[in-house]
Amino acid sequence: MLNRLKRPKFFCGVDIGASSVKAALVHVRDEHNLDLLGVFEVPAKGFKDASVNDLTELADCIQLVVKGVSQKCAVNVTSVHLGIDGECLQVRRSSAVLPLVDTGTKVISRSDVRKVNHQARLLGTGLEEEVLHDVPQFYKVDDANVATNPIGLFGRKLESHLLLFLVNANRLRNMVKAVHQAGYEVGRVSLSAWAASVVGLEEALKRQGCVLVDIGSNLTTVLFFKNNILGDVQSVPWGGQYLTQSLAERLNLAADLAEDIKRTHAVASVAVPAAGGDILVKRDKGYLPVRREAVCEAVNWEVENLLTHLETVIHSSPLFHDLNGGVVVVGGGALLPGLMERIEARLRMPVRMGTTKGLNNAALFSSAIGLAQLGYMNNLQQTVDFKTPGEVKHKLIERVRELCQEYF
Ligand SMILES: Nc1ncnc2c1ncn2[C@@H]1O[C@H](COP(=O)(O)OP(=O)(O)OP(=O)(O)O)[C@@H](O)[C@H]1O
Ligand SMILES: [Mg+2]
Repeated sequence: MLNRLKRPKFFCGVDIGASSVKAALVHVRDEHNLDLLGVFEVPAKGFKDASVNDLTELADCIQLVVKGVSQKCAVNVTSVHLGIDGECLQVRRSSAVLPLVDTGTKVISRSDVRKVNHQARLLGTGLEEEVLHDVPQFYKVDDANVATNPIGLFGRKLESHLLLFLVNANRLRNMVKAVHQAGYEVGRVSLSAWAASVVGLEEALKRQGCVLVDIGSNLTTVLFFKNNILGDVQSVPWGGQYLTQSLAERLNLAADLAEDIKRTHAVASVAVPAAGGDILVKRDKGYLPVRREAVCEAVNWEVENLLTHLETVIHSSPLFHDLNGGVVVVGGGALLPGLMERIEARLRMPVRMGTTKGLNNAALFSSAIGLAQLGYMNNLQQTVDFKTPGEVKHKLIERVRELCQEYF
């Protein structure tokens, strides 16, 4: 009971991206009711090419974004759950086999599963790497029986197949150091796109088979789910920044002006806007007319690149024929008007943007909100073992049963 009272009620997610750092604050009423209190965004500083390039700048930036959200919601934040983007990541498959008994057979226990997964993790991890997530794909019992959950099955040999998300240990240490320098503790660290899937994809959709596409600034991360398991991860070297560059180069504009035009006038439509004519762009000495048609052309060129990349990656995935739940798109890049329709037409699959009730531009903050939720889930996991005396007793009985099965 005491633990239940002590459990934190507010969780803050911080998503460190290439173009901006976003924070979200979530209030937990009970296990089924998590309310989003607020979000905040600041331009990313001190973080380049997926690494900390100025510790003080990044720490200041994190402090700014967390203070922003905590002041907005009038909640004191002491620890944050961190998200890092796909550029920092290595994805690898690993497997291991555990002999269970010399002769005869035994019932596979939770600790057998833990051991074989631990082995697979060790075998798949390099010296300088940290495991961010390990996702069991399937287990094999005695080479023949494929199982998603082998606990309780008879067997002599257990094989585990994991999908590992790895990050360079020092790169991660530096990011954590920046958070500490900003004055906050670090809870859970996750891949931002994975966190977005926690809020963006319902369980039924993940069971059916679906895709989450996170269009960031420099990179698009594509996650494939089937049977409620993350089964494949791909990345596409494309992000919203490519549109800005295309506009800047073709229209001979400064990058910030091109970014402005993109956000206010660009549309991912093949047709030239009916309005036609010029857009008046504010320059130092007055207004500069920019042809709407030229904006449209510059955007289309890059959108076509994204569509080709996405089509290749999704159509060549081994899960392609099992994706009946369609595609959900998140990340700032998803906010370009008309993009969902273009992706849908090209992939010939249902496509929608990730949404959160009551929040505009929800796609931009999906990861930050998901990180806060993952923080809560992590906390629940850590305290669930010792919730009530009844549950402690139940755990002990289960453990004794496992030991009996193991040795007799
Ligand atoms: N309203 C909008 N219309 C079009 N593009 C937008 C809009 N708002 C943001 N963007 C674009 O979204 C991109 C940033 O998206 P996001 O914030 O998800 O990236 P990030 O998390 O910083 O980067 P990454 O995930 O690659 O590390 C930028 O290129 C930005 O120009
Ligand atoms: Mg991102």
